[in-house]
Amino acid sequence: MKHLIDPTDLTVQEIDDILDLAIDIINDKEKYQDACKRKKLATLFFEPSTRTRLSFEAAMMELGGNVLGFSSADSSSTAKGESVGDTIRTVGCYADIIAMRHPKEGAPLLGSFVSDVPIINAGDGGHNHPTQTLTDLLTIKREKGRLNNFTIGLCGDLKFGRTVHSLIKALSRYEGIKYVLISPNELRVPEYIITEVFKKNNIEYKEVTTMEEVMDELDIIYMTRVQKERFFNEADYIRLKDTYILDKSKLKTAKPDLSILHPLPRVNEISTDVDSDPRACYFRQALNGKYVRMALIMTLLEVTV
Ligand code: CP
Repeated sequence: MKHLIDPTDLTVQEIDDILDLAIDIINDKEKYQDACKRKKLATLFFEPSTRTRLSFEAAMMELGGNVLGFSSADSSSTAKGESVGDTIRTVGCYADIIAMRHPKEGAPLLGSFVSDVPIINAGDGGHNHPTQTLTDLLTIKREKGRLNNFTIGLCGDLKFGRTVHSLIKALSRYEGIKYVLISPNELRVPEYIITEVFKKNNIEYKEVTTMEEVMDELDIIYMTRVQKERFFNEADYIRLKDTYILDKSKLKTAKPDLSILHPLPRVNEISTDVDSDPRACYFRQALNGKYVRMALIMTLLEVTV
């Protein structure tokens, strides 16, 4: 049995197979409408979510399966003191596969140690968000036609942004990608990403503090929200939250085929005047999240049609 806890739990071949399956689902939805008939997905969300939880649920429904679960710790027996391990063991009696989000880094991994069914990490603290990464990869593949040979700018909260950490880890295994890390000094990527991913693999990267100085170099810009919920000090959040606001004026020097991605939710970091720009991919990205989660559920349940 396989779980998905970290993006590197999947080989490059397995990722490419999941993306190909997602594209086949997009092209022939009817073929997959009963693929998971009589299967159940449990969504255990100990932290708020709109896209991840609802796209997982929509994904299972579109595969002909059923969903159950909870959307906050308060509405589960966690509020009475039940451990993550006991929760997972119990839910495994009722569901065939579990998608779990938790504020504590490593909680889904802990759950996977005791689980009788596949566990999918739907976001653990500021650590990883591997299904957002699959969503991002499918979006890049559909928008650019490839997963290699481009320059990507990652902008915003690179310290706490788990989607950034997972995306860098996954992309580091593809060829010819240059990374431009755009953040205030306080929100730079964690040191382990610099040493264990970039330096260890001789990957080209640079760190800058403004998007204007690099905009004309980028094929992709991946905007992120400053992660209010991870700050210890509200004054620091207020000082940093609007450091980057991508608007039409900042796109003047951008490439005509730039792809603008954002895992969402957005707060202020992309002005709504960018939404009508054909280069804005973030709502197409949200839709891709449903299809790639359909492909992932089928893969982990070893379902074929
Ligand atoms: N991208 C993402 O994880 O969004 P949600 O927090 O709404 O699930």
